[in-house]
Amino acid sequence: MDGTLTFLGLESSCDDTAAAVVRAGPEGAVILSSVVAGQDALHAAFGGVVPEIAARAHAERIDLCVEQALEQAGLPLAAMDGIAVTAGPGLIGGVLAAVMCAKGLSAATGLPLVGVNHLAGHALTPRLTDALAFPYLMLLVSGGHCQFLLVEGVDRFRRLGGTIDDAPGEAFDKTAKLLGLPQPGGPAVEAEAAQGDARRFAFPRPLLDRPGCDLSFSGLKTALLRARDAVIAARGGIPVQDRRDLCAGFQAAVADVLAEKSRRALVECPGITGFAVAGGVAANATLRGRLMAVAAAAGVPFLAPPLRLCTDNAAMIAWAGIERFRAGLTDDLALSARPRWPLDSTAPALLGSGKKGAKA
Ligand code: KG4
Ligand code: ZN
Repeated sequence: MDGTLTFLGLESSCDDTAAAVVRAGPEGAVILSSVVAGQDALHAAFGGVVPEIAARAHAERIDLCVEQALEQAGLPLAAMDGIAVTAGPGLIGGVLAAVMCAKGLSAATGLPLVGVNHLAGHALTPRLTDALAFPYLMLLVSGGHCQFLLVEGVDRFRRLGGTIDDAPGEAFDKTAKLLGLPQPGGPAVEAEAAQGDARRFAFPRPLLDRPGCDLSFSGLKTALLRARDAVIAARGGIPVQDRRDLCAGFQAAVADVLAEKSRRALVECPGITGFAVAGGVAANATLRGRLMAVAAAAGVPFLAPPLRLCTDNAAMIAWAGIERFRAGLTDDLALSARPRWPLDSTAPALLGSGKKGAKA
């Protein structure tokens, strides 16, 4: 054999049920299939992810996702070299669904089982897409995560900072809700902001006055609520231009904070090969532009994987499984699902748990 490995990956830690097949060889890695069954419609009426509904949907759909992933890859289960599964952190009922499925498949076939940290899946994605060498800086910005990670090895992560309350995606979603825009809020707020004046409302830039890379977004949410209420009190509603200006002001505050904290994180990481982003919020063009400029000023390459690999998916889990397997890090049927699982066990625990479950 030439060291080529083909892995099945499973993911069910939040509100996407996913399965994928990834093959990695001397020429690099190829995603042979990547199936993602989202749950937006199931949770829409509740304004957030309902853990019990998510867990049930994962349990119902994970087998089907695996079947589809194998079919689309054109390979039988027996052609796999191993099975990788997200074992945490996340909503425990959901995590269990894929862990139980992966254990069943491993027990039935004798294939090696590799438990993967969901955040490691995101953090290792630039190696799947761009073969990025260690060490590099990763900013995870999604509806459930927000942290700066120095990625030094397959199993070596140093957290430089993270949110002490909400994730930025949550703040975008809440902003959309307060302004009567559809969910998920990020794209809707971005579209409104494009036609707004970011200077009209003065929103705070939380934690910029403190050293370090920790972030906070809950105060920004409150500031937006107050500004909205002031508009309603003065105008009897939210006129279209006011809504656009509120969105633009909010987005500028988030982008300013993330850009400045990224600049500081880059100063803390001399000798890195790149600065990569992942997570749904990384889709925001204004934010991407700012981060790109910060990386350019620091003389570091900027990497943003395609959006389908920035958001939750199982290809990143299959890939992380391959990386762990190559490093000799495998599990057995005693693998357990973990609701909390910090990547950097030396960093102090982050506060808050967010609408999408515990943050690591
Ligand atoms: O990574 P993701 O798909 O799911 C998890 O949170 O795990 O991220 C979803 C989040 C949502 O909060 C959504 O509003 C936000 O990413 N988002 C955006 C944009 N597109 C998605 N936020 C800002 N601007 C966008 N264009
Ligand atoms: Zn995620």
